[in-house]
Amino acid sequence: MPCCDSMTDRVTCHCLQVKESQVADSVAIYGAQSVKDVIRTCGAGGGCNSCHTKIRQIIESHGATGACEEEMPAAL
Ligand code: FES
Repeated sequence: MPCCDSMTDRVTCHCLQVKESQVADSVAIYGAQSVKDVIRTCGAGGGCNSCHTKIRQIIESHGATGACEEEMPAAL
């Protein structure tokens, strides 16, 4: 069951046929905070990489702060 009823539940990753709700569940249930985490938990993003931007948006919309594993924290 999707964690967010307001989702339209479109396919986010066409290579792996993973829906938006499954990516959201990876964030909400399994604590995915990066694209790598999402690939590990539900498979989305493990093909051509063209869905990585969408995956990052889903991660960010669910409150995670480390959506881009390539970015380093800014030095203060
Ligand atoms: S569409 Fe997700 S890896 Fe290709």
